[in-house]
Amino acid sequence: MRIRWKFGLAALFAAALTACGGPEKKTLVIGAILPLTGPAAHAGNEAYQAVQLAVDEANASGRLAPYTLELIARDDVSDPKQAVSAAKDLASNPSVLGVVAHFNSGCYMPASKVYHENGVAAITPAASNPSITLQGFPEIHRIVTTDQVQGTAFGQFISKHGVKRLAVIHDKTQYGEPLADMVRKSAVSAGVAVVSYDGIQVGDKDFRALLTTLREKKPDAVFFGGLYDEGGLLVKEMRELGMKQTFFGPDGIKGKDFLDVAGSSAEGSIVSFIGNNADNLPGAKKFLDDYQKRYKQAVENFGPYAYDVAGIFVAALENILKRNETPSRALVLDELQKIQYSGVMGVTEFDEHGDNKNRAVSFYRVETGKFVFLEAISVSPS
Ligand code: ALA
Repeated sequence: MRIRWKFGLAALFAAALTACGGPEKKTLVIGAILPLTGPAAHAGNEAYQAVQLAVDEANASGRLAPYTLELIARDDVSDPKQAVSAAKDLASNPSVLGVVAHFNSGCYMPASKVYHENGVAAITPAASNPSITLQGFPEIHRIVTTDQVQGTAFGQFISKHGVKRLAVIHDKTQYGEPLADMVRKSAVSAGVAVVSYDGIQVGDKDFRALLTTLREKKPDAVFFGGLYDEGGLLVKEMRELGMKQTFFGPDGIKGKDFLDVAGSSAEGSIVSFIGNNADNLPGAKKFLDDYQKRYKQAVENFGPYAYDVAGIFVAALENILKRNETPSRALVLDELQKIQYSGVMGVTEFDEHGDNKNRAVSFYRVETGKFVFLEAISVSPS
């Protein structure tokens, strides 16, 4: 009763302001902080464009009428410092009700504190380091699954496909290293021997010395925990050295940049993705077609999840407006806690940490320059 009375007063006050020619808020704002330039720009732009599509569709549908949804975008350049300063910039704007952020775990981890301190809901369409959502920050959410799940699925996949001796390499980042560690553990528990475990430096171009040493250990497969450019160079240099081992990589190499850098050396590589395979989901078809039509590009990786993240914010705002309440950061956060969002990638429901309860990992093989879906593995909570 008290709540109704409070919001009734707020509505009366707003109506009175409008009647007096005072300010009437017509815009609801969400932010997007993604790598629009830098080493993950291709994936970052796909995610950003998908968010923009969702925002434009929401406005065209009138779902949030009389409000218009506005998107404020910032480029984090995959750089933790720039991510934190972009997060502070958006968090200090009281109009911003939620943020689609970030792509890199190395950015989301430090920026998560900013969202927490300012009570702003953030949902990542891509960052998978499990520790990010284990900090106890109610503002922090993730729509893709975690590297705990990805690592576990990898162990199951490689042992099933006959790998006996695995070499593990990582890029020493907050994404690649913990992921490689999880792959190592899950491989060992699946009975696979991990014959080497090494870190490389992001930005380095010549990995031949490391690969030559690693070849002596006679692995039958190599796993790399890291991103497109280094992954592409590693497999290219492996093939130049005559190394024929299967090259495995995570979501961070499932994209055009990996294929561009590796060229024909990418053929046969096997990559995982931290979610469902969009091409198999009937509910994703319209989005994939609309995206292609608007941007003249095919969707490759995180676009459908970014689209669903924006859709979750729209649904949360719509629910608030349906109750005749005025959207606020706190109300958006309340909505996220209870949301069951049926999007293009399936149903999203956040668990007590802010992670998606859907824990699927998809596997692909590079065939004639394309990622061809192999199978999906669903991992139960441990
Ligand atoms: N999943 C990758 C990361 O967490 C993109 O950085």
